[in-house]
Amino acid sequence: MIYADYNGSAPLTPEVKDYLIARLEKGPFANPNAIHSLGANTLLKMENARSLCAKYLGAHPAQLTFNSGATEGISTVFHSVLALNQKKVIIISSIEHSAVVNTANYYASLGFILKVLPVNANGVIELEILKEWFQEFNSQIAMVAIMAANNETGVIQPYQAVNQLCQDGQVPYLCDTTQFIGKTPFNFKESNVDYAVCSGHKLGAMTGTGLLLAKNPETLKALIIGGGQEKNHRGGTQHYIGNETLAIALKAVTDNFSRIDELSKKRQEFENKIKKSFPKVVVLGENAPRLSTTTYIAYPGLHGQAVQIELESQDIFVTTSSACSDNMPVTSKVLRAMNVSDAIGRGVVRLSIGLNSPTTYYDELFTGLSKAYAKLEKVNSF
Ligand SMILES: Cc1ncc(COP(=O)(O)O)c(C=O)c1O
Repeated sequence: MIYADYNGSAPLTPEVKDYLIARLEKGPFANPNAIHSLGANTLLKMENARSLCAKYLGAHPAQLTFNSGATEGISTVFHSVLALNQKKVIIISSIEHSAVVNTANYYASLGFILKVLPVNANGVIELEILKEWFQEFNSQIAMVAIMAANNETGVIQPYQAVNQLCQDGQVPYLCDTTQFIGKTPFNFKESNVDYAVCSGHKLGAMTGTGLLLAKNPETLKALIIGGGQEKNHRGGTQHYIGNETLAIALKAVTDNFSRIDELSKKRQEFENKIKKSFPKVVVLGENAPRLSTTTYIAYPGLHGQAVQIELESQDIFVTTSSACSDNMPVTSKVLRAMNVSDAIGRGVVRLSIGLNSPTTYYDELFTGLSKAYAKLEKVNSF
């Protein structure tokens, strides 16, 4: 079996599995906010996990709030920055995840003005336009939310340049690092962004876990008020075992950063070989910097879902676009933003593996995809 939908959700890493088996056997199990010794021991383990997560992400432990994942982190930042804000302009990009788009639309419905930054044909944000907008609207910009890496194409965005503009203009910047963290090194302090988010299930920790990084945590306003947990930034008893798995998973991915070059090379080989065998094939975002673990590929005229089903019959699991819109046989909004035709847009499959996947996956994906394309080519008589 080849699981190639890590961008949708990564399987638990073996390190997390081993940790959980021992952890569930031994305990402690208690409310980490309780005053008895079991509570104190549970808290100790969770705070140790916070320190480790902070270390792997280049943050201070006090800058880290445990939560349920990126969607919650994104909503918390919008709520924190926009509540009572006199400035009215929100800037996002045209390739943001729906967790950002729908939140921004909600605030637009409350009277904020939403500006959506276009991308070029490679799926990279148009930085020059953003610079113009900063000149035009700076005094009115309430916040900017632009991702570090795209979930469909894997294209890495110039988030440092976005951050520079935001810092110069004193505009809060939320960098959606959901797909970036765990796939390539990220140092929060060095990035200097105001807010970054993470979902545990994207990097092999337990699903339903996550964290929000805030440069100045005092700017956070709790979205979930509750009993004052997480220094009043996120109410509700913490998912302490889940939070511990975040630290284990972050260590595992950090140990695998040394594999990035090897995986990028293998990915390149894979793309070259498939394009040579099937000259009509298109790789989306091909000429932009991309995550080493993602390939977004289309055979124009062949339906992506037909390719996906063919691959599944070979025990290879991929998606046609982002998991959330899997059942929609339409060109995704990310690809429309990149001006991709429907023939290509309907033909895409996303192959996304993990930093801990064997490099032979790319060979096996080549064999599997070649078989699928060859079969469907005949049926469609190209
Ligand atoms: C770029 C990006 N942002 C945010 C999210 C939301 O993450 P979650 O559903 O884990 O909260 C995702 C999930 O696919 C994503 O890819």
